[in-house]
Amino acid sequence: MKRICLILFFLAASAAAFASEPKLISIETSETQMLLYVQENGEVSFYHYGKKFDRPEQISGYRSYRRWDYGTEPPAYPARGGRYFNQAALAVKYSTGELNTELLYEGHSVRNVSDAAVRTVVSLKDSKTDLSVDLYYDAYQKEDVIVTHAEITNGGRKPVVLESYASSAINIHASRYLLTHFYGSWAREMQVKRELLTPGIKSIRSIKGVRTTHTENPSFMLSLDAAEFNENYGEVIAGALAWSGNYSIDFQIDETEMLSVVSGAGTPGADYQLKPGKTFQTPDMIYTFSAEGAGKASRNLHSWARRHYLYDSSMMCPTLLNNWEGTYFKFNEQILKGIIDNVASMGLEMFVLDDGWFGGKDYPRNGSNQGLGDWQIVEEKLPNGVAAIADYAHSKGLKFGIWIEPEMVNPKSRLAQEHPEWIVGEKGRELTTIRTQWLLDMTNPEVQDFVFGVFDSTMQLAEGIDYIKWDCNRHMENVGSEHLGENQSHFWWDYNQGLYSVYRRIREKYPDVIIQSCSSGGGRLDYGALHYCNEAWTSDNTEALSRVFIQYGTNLIYPAIACGSHVSAVPNHQTQNVTPLKFRFDVACSERLGMELQPSDMTGQEKDFARKAIASFKQYRDLVYYGDLYRLCSPYDGDYYALMYVSEDKKRAVVFTYTIRYQGRTLKPSFKLEGLSDDMEYSIRELNVDKSCFWGDGKTFSGSYLKNFGINPEIPKLYSSAVFYLEAR
Ligand code: DGJ
Repeated sequence: MKRICLILFFLAASAAAFASEPKLISIETSETQMLLYVQENGEVSFYHYGKKFDRPEQISGYRSYRRWDYGTEPPAYPARGGRYFNQAALAVKYSTGELNTELLYEGHSVRNVSDAAVRTVVSLKDSKTDLSVDLYYDAYQKEDVIVTHAEITNGGRKPVVLESYASSAINIHASRYLLTHFYGSWAREMQVKRELLTPGIKSIRSIKGVRTTHTENPSFMLSLDAAEFNENYGEVIAGALAWSGNYSIDFQIDETEMLSVVSGAGTPGADYQLKPGKTFQTPDMIYTFSAEGAGKASRNLHSWARRHYLYDSSMMCPTLLNNWEGTYFKFNEQILKGIIDNVASMGLEMFVLDDGWFGGKDYPRNGSNQGLGDWQIVEEKLPNGVAAIADYAHSKGLKFGIWIEPEMVNPKSRLAQEHPEWIVGEKGRELTTIRTQWLLDMTNPEVQDFVFGVFDSTMQLAEGIDYIKWDCNRHMENVGSEHLGENQSHFWWDYNQGLYSVYRRIREKYPDVIIQSCSSGGGRLDYGALHYCNEAWTSDNTEALSRVFIQYGTNLIYPAIACGSHVSAVPNHQTQNVTPLKFRFDVACSERLGMELQPSDMTGQEKDFARKAIASFKQYRDLVYYGDLYRLCSPYDGDYYALMYVSEDKKRAVVFTYTIRYQGRTLKPSFKLEGLSDDMEYSIRELNVDKSCFWGDGKTFSGSYLKNFGINPEIPKLYSSAVFYLEAR
């Protein structure tokens, strides 16, 4: 016994000595690094996120000269308590009612998690209680991306309440912080807002529970020491939270002019009770740093996402036609077969049947006011079932996809009558509808089974369903769950976890089906959903000019391979704007091309053009999906928008140019190309035209000429556009 006590004493003493030893923790990618530093008192400070410098250990003697009574050095994971006064990542209320947590270093480990990433885990523990936190940092070497999350463990004997539980915090010191973030609404997603941060807190957040990315997206870019956004110069940090529920990303400039960015799921009121022995894992927060402007930050995120995070980006989503804007709810077998004939003859590769095929006998889905929840086909529309449509599409050499909205129920449905206890809401308060529908309670495992079942049975409706469009057309109001009883504040967290657990079950059974994440357009566009879904529907606004802005914003953070873009009819159903078919195609072809209209309304000439544009897209789409994106100018800054994608070996490229405002006869655009090799010779060919608008069409130019002098297509009129294909000779 004595010996055991002695050993325990020595172990405790050496752990304490270990804890107080100053230590540098360097989390490195090929060009960037985060530096954490273990102070003598065991606090772990966040010293640096930026470009890698040599001998990082030089920082070990660093003094900020901050007076300690003005707060601690910025912690790697700030907790409420001690001398920390800024926004906390972690706020814990203990069973005693006590509110303080002071996290101290316990140890750290470093190991390779794959050929691509090195994982550093920093273990922290509260100085008084048995609450501990492990901070995970996965450093993706090649792409300069660091993915972080926290795991909070209640090692005590009583439950604790997590009042905030962010994924991560970083601290930056610069003279200026220019924030780029993404705001909007339905049909106006991912609008770009830029603002210089000032002292105080700027928070981007959503408390809508689901459909959380319409009004703000959980992502940002920060240009450091700069008042202007620049594609090619300056230091830029980009961040994105992989989470489809409530979130907040808080930017706080304190009295030392240091910026802390605290990002995570959960917003005030979403307290989470953590039982003894349990661990709470926060979602991933994804960062990249570029010392060469915003363009590189986007490219880092895109190539990292394609290689490591998106659901199977090796699979190219086929070109498709979706019947929503073509028919809305009014279709039958004959109409759909007619569309399919056109889809095949124009050279598209898939037909997707949207809303309106279900509801059964009692509540046929002839409008948005009924049928959700009752996933039986409407026989009047489809007497031979969905199989007849899918088989017909297959017989024409097409793939087949279908729409579902499994988390929802219309009051007019059998499901609502049979399972009122599954509907989100609080007894004694109004059950509000949005688009005449209610939300199902995904915190409840029975509902999760039901939602999985909707997906599963839809997959059985026909042989070979290749694609599911998963929609979600309302957010949460007056939340409440019968299932959660007294733990109502768990609702938002558990809902999203319920959704993800269904996604996981689906992926186990259906690894190859393509899933599109849609939520009234871009309401569920985040890396959390894209981890399970192959792509997102970025907006219900299919009008090409609006799309230029939506796509520009979206592709700052999310890669084109994960973004569907459809050519629709004019006047556009959302904006009434009329744009030329070529402009519409040229815009849609810069993401995953599709169409969304009734092709029988198109003229023969329009169909011929569509056929050509679709054929040419197929030749270069690998560039759009897997190439490096270079934005040649911004639609917010002038009268034109231009972007290009370059293959990894720099041997091929595609350039898109658009006139988005009329500028009279004198202003002529010229675009310096990027990403090409100086030493290669490129042939340049304009696509989708009989007569080119560029004098250099068909010629060969050096990469250095194209980068330094550029091209000047004549695109003088509003909605003129030109697409060029470049190939190294
Ligand atoms: C909203 C989606 O964003 C649309 O594309 C369409 O699928 C409708 N829902 C169908 O109700």
